[in-house]
Amino acid sequence: MLELSHLKAGYGKGEILSDLSLSVGEGEIVSLLGRNGAGKTTTLRSIMGLSDVRDGGVHFLGRDIRQLSTFERARLGLCLVPEDRMIFSALTVEENLLVSRSRKSKWTLADAYRYFRRLHERRHSRGGTLSGGEQQMLAIARALLNGPRLLMLDEPSEGLAPTIVEEIVEIMRTIREMGVSILLVEQNLEVCCAVSERLYVIDDGRIVSESGPRKSAELDEVVKKYLAV
Ligand SMILES: Nc1ncnc2c1ncn2[C@@H]1O[C@H](COP(=O)(O)OP(=O)(O)OP(=O)(O)O)[C@@H](O)[C@H]1O
Ligand SMILES: [Mg+2]
Repeated sequence: MLELSHLKAGYGKGEILSDLSLSVGEGEIVSLLGRNGAGKTTTLRSIMGLSDVRDGGVHFLGRDIRQLSTFERARLGLCLVPEDRMIFSALTVEENLLVSRSRKSKWTLADAYRYFRRLHERRHSRGGTLSGGEQQMLAIARALLNGPRLLMLDEPSEGLAPTIVEEIVEIMRTIREMGVSILLVEQNLEVCCAVSERLYVIDDGRIVSESGPRKSAELDEVVKKYLAV
């Protein structure tokens, strides 16, 4: 459903992505793994039309979307949950959810509360008082209320305790069961292996490895080479 081919992109004069190709199929969870500064966020921003794409193709649902605005891409079903989560800290959990609800979406507030029990418990709390894990859940729930076809998550496990990370992994599985595909950006290999069908490793703006979800000697090598600090 999403196809990036030979993408060159960056900001201003700087080129960050040099020749990046990847794809996400219908119903898939695909991971993009790479160290700090590898170009992961830039890849997601390029898909949303938030970075300067100079060359290559960006296709979504068979359509060339390079000329579309970010808003139009969102309307087609692309949705990005950014690294900093962008929660409105002065609004309550429920208000955060309601302001981003799309009428077209099949996800309702009740669904959000069914899948994110913790958000239901905290529905009257202000965004700014939530823990990191709760904020991440709120950011994901809010994205779902937009009714995306492909959800992009930028390092959802970052800074979260292992038990919360497990909950996020469960939530990703549920989202896939609901028919939403996921492009997951991570630095956490365990998380990627736990949920994804396929896994790409990015380094210095290009894909250096593509593999299945199983741990293998080859994947170990790649991780040692490209992810070890
Ligand atoms: N708005 C920007 N303007 C100019 N350069 C940028 C901008 N955002 C990122 N960069 C540069 O692009 C490169 C790739 O950054 P990017 O944010 O895509 O990496 P990342 O893989 O997401 O890293 P991290 O794991 O730290 O989030 C870095 O060298 C960064 O300094
Ligand atoms: Mg990033």
